Amino acid sequence: MINYMSSKKLNIKALLNLPQANIEVAVDAWVRTKRQSKNVAFLALNDGSTIHNLQAVVDVDDQIESILDRIHTGASVHVEGILIPSEGKGQSYELKTTTIHIWGEANPDEYPLQPKKHSLEFLREIAHLRFRSNLFGAVTRIRHAMIFAIHNYFNQNGFYNVHTPIITASDAEGAGEMFQVTTLDLNNLPKTEDGSIDYSKDFFGKSANLTVSGQLEAELAAMALSKVYTFGPTFRAENSNTSRHLAEFWMIEPEVAFADINDDMDLAEGLLKYCVQYALDHCNDDLQFLSERIIAEEKSLPEKDRSMELIEKLKMVVDNDFVRITYTEAIDILKNSNPNKKKKFNYIIEAWGADLQSEHERYLVEKHFQKPVILTDYPKEIKAFYMKLNEDNQTVRAMDILFPGIGEIVGGSQREEDYEKLVGRMREMHIPEKEMSWYLDTRKFGSAPHAGFGLGFERLLLFVTGMGNVRDVIAFPRTPKNCEF
Ligand code: 4AD
Ligand code: MG
Repeated sequence: MINYMSSKKLNIKALLNLPQANIEVAVDAWVRTKRQSKNVAFLALNDGSTIHNLQAVVDVDDQIESILDRIHTGASVHVEGILIPSEGKGQSYELKTTTIHIWGEANPDEYPLQPKKHSLEFLREIAHLRFRSNLFGAVTRIRHAMIFAIHNYFNQNGFYNVHTPIITASDAEGAGEMFQVTTLDLNNLPKTEDGSIDYSKDFFGKSANLTVSGQLEAELAAMALSKVYTFGPTFRAENSNTSRHLAEFWMIEPEVAFADINDDMDLAEGLLKYCVQYALDHCNDDLQFLSERIIAEEKSLPEKDRSMELIEKLKMVVDNDFVRITYTEAIDILKNSNPNKKKKFNYIIEAWGADLQSEHERYLVEKHFQKPVILTDYPKEIKAFYMKLNEDNQTVRAMDILFPGIGEIVGGSQREEDYEKLVGRMREMHIPEKEMSWYLDTRKFGSAPHAGFGLGFERLLLFVTGMGNVRDVIAFPRTPKNCEF
């Protein structure tokens, strides 16, 4: 019995990068394609370690032929042989195969993924096999690299990671878009005397939800550890079926004590540039693949409608300072813009105070400035209760970062550190004060100026990968009416 779990085993990425060939190796991988003639067969093998396949060259004899007959696209195999320099284009080495073992066959009549281009919509329907596509492999590796980059950046800058809760009783954004968590029997709800639901009988003795943000808890940690960040799943029951919204997404939320809105902007710009540079440094093969894919996709478009080449676009972000302007300045630009005057926007900007829609954000970034923009000092009415009020009593020290092709990628602010002012804002916005006493306590005992932001991880990935829909940068997207797998 041959031991297929042998020690010669290398992953394909390591193997294709070996300094020299003519050594014996073993590989476990999935078959992407099989080409076979009378005397020789070629298997393109991929184990997910890299976008590149390893070509296994097999001399066909009777015994091997019976094995080859059972191998089709999607099968998993163990192959052994000698790694030799490749004569073919685009690959350094190929495997002169001596042994093939099949781990698992894949019936060609049933296997949904064929070695051809599939639509993104189709791939979403087979999310359990989507990982095997070149596209989703590349996205998954880049997603992994970005997670590392984020932890690196904060670690190198003296931040501590905190896990904030996923189940919570408070609405951090005060927007009421929460998924409820309950163990109550929905068909037999306990009621109080006045007929409302008796949550004292529920698991936590009160009504609980999935978190919409870890910010409030991160603020508590920052008031002791000075620089913290949380990076976790976030849940929003907003019924927005767009290419930028998920019901379950991942958010990076740093919170910094003794920091103001300018420190906050510097931190966010630094993080975004670090992540993009990290991708350029570590994900070149995958970025190259994604870039070529976009170019092919846009070939039929007129030149003016094509997007900037992916790697060029990433470098543009690293090399340029983000524009920083106030909401008020942005409104002036938008009011005087052509699409506004010609009523091309779906939402015409009439006056100061209007909430900006993604069409406005993208106009500023893509048409007007043509680089990332940070907007600050929004009207208090359109922002959350915890943001620090400016002296004008009208605007708050908010900052949103807008990116080309995406719109808002970061939302943050300096926080209101004054107890009285914060309570005042909470009353105005009908945020229950009593339930938030634990949060308000930070403003009672050694309160300090502080600031933070939230970076939507999937939106960062949209930018870095050049993909157009957040559903294609997360393995198992959760959206309205969609909770498969
Ligand atoms: O602007 P938001 O709502 O800010 C907060 O939640 C703050 N508590 C953050 C903070 O200051 N600590 O969300 C922050 C970011 C957005 O800019 C966007 O990138 C992303 O989270 N985001 C979403 N991403 C995917 N799907 C959704 N439904 C999202 N909602 C927000
Ligand atoms: Mg926001």
